[in-house]
Amino acid sequence: MLASFKQYLEHLQLEQLLKKVGASDPETLAKTVEHFTVKEGEKRDQIVKNYFGQSGKRRIVDTITRCLLEQPRLPLEGKVLDVGAGTGFFTVRVARKVKAEIPDVSFYAMDLTPAMLLSLAKKKADIVPFVGLAENIRGSIEQTRKHFNIPFKFDAVFSTLMLHHSTSPERVFESIKDALKKHGKAVVVDLCEHSFEEFKAEMGDVYLGFKPENIQAMARRHFADVKVEKLPGIRCESSGRSAEIFIATMKNFP
Ligand SMILES: C[S@@+](CC[C@H](N)C(=O)[O-])C[C@H]1O[C@@H](n2cnc3c(N)ncnc32)[C@H](O)[C@@H]1O
Repeated sequence: MLASFKQYLEHLQLEQLLKKVGASDPETLAKTVEHFTVKEGEKRDQIVKNYFGQSGKRRIVDTITRCLLEQPRLPLEGKVLDVGAGTGFFTVRVARKVKAEIPDVSFYAMDLTPAMLLSLAKKKADIVPFVGLAENIRGSIEQTRKHFNIPFKFDAVFSTLMLHHSTSPERVFESIKDALKKHGKAVVVDLCEHSFEEFKAEMGDVYLGFKPENIQAMARRHFADVKVEKLPGIRCESSGRSAEIFIATMKNFP
């Protein structure tokens, strides 16, 4: 699995892939890939632990897991996609918990940065990684299917801390909706709006978080049922600066 993933990455032409999926801001995406390759590929898991501490990390995992397991329950052979999965810090932990309840659920992990997915693949965690753009999940899957099989539609999609790195949050919501089955659901966790402009240079951020009410409005344009709330008591902490976290849960049906 690891060997075949490395082979797939060797043949992957990221620039071409991004062109084919209609990436609207290749310059920003190239900077993002560079940032995560150089600064986070090997270190991401430790970075996440530093951001949230043991209990914050556990609460995020438990909250996402609960959303995936609540009604409508995932089918016995359900398919779940993590968008912007990075090194799979949350993917692995959520997958472990979900599979403890429903063992045959399959997990897929999409990300823009090959180096991040390579770290995920090295964990040998029964998660299928592939390179793609959150703003066009379907197009990314079409390109990936030239190499190996990935389903077009999922029972659930989740995403942690990717949205503020995306070039178009609006298109991300639209793209997640397109990747969901009729009774699918989605969970997006990200930063609330903050004022640390320097996060752009330090952490490769594109957006300084989001106002929950703006996320609500954005998601409502694509989903029938949307709930956005702050996760009380959990902050993303970095060198004395911290931002609140929101969770948006969305269903494809009323
Ligand atoms: C802050 S990391 C979060 C990774 C992981 N979800 C976590 O919580 O540890 C952001 C990830 O989003 C990916 N990313 C950024 N923009 C993206 C996009 N437009 N489409 C897909 N992935 C993207 C980056 O490559 C990076 O791995």
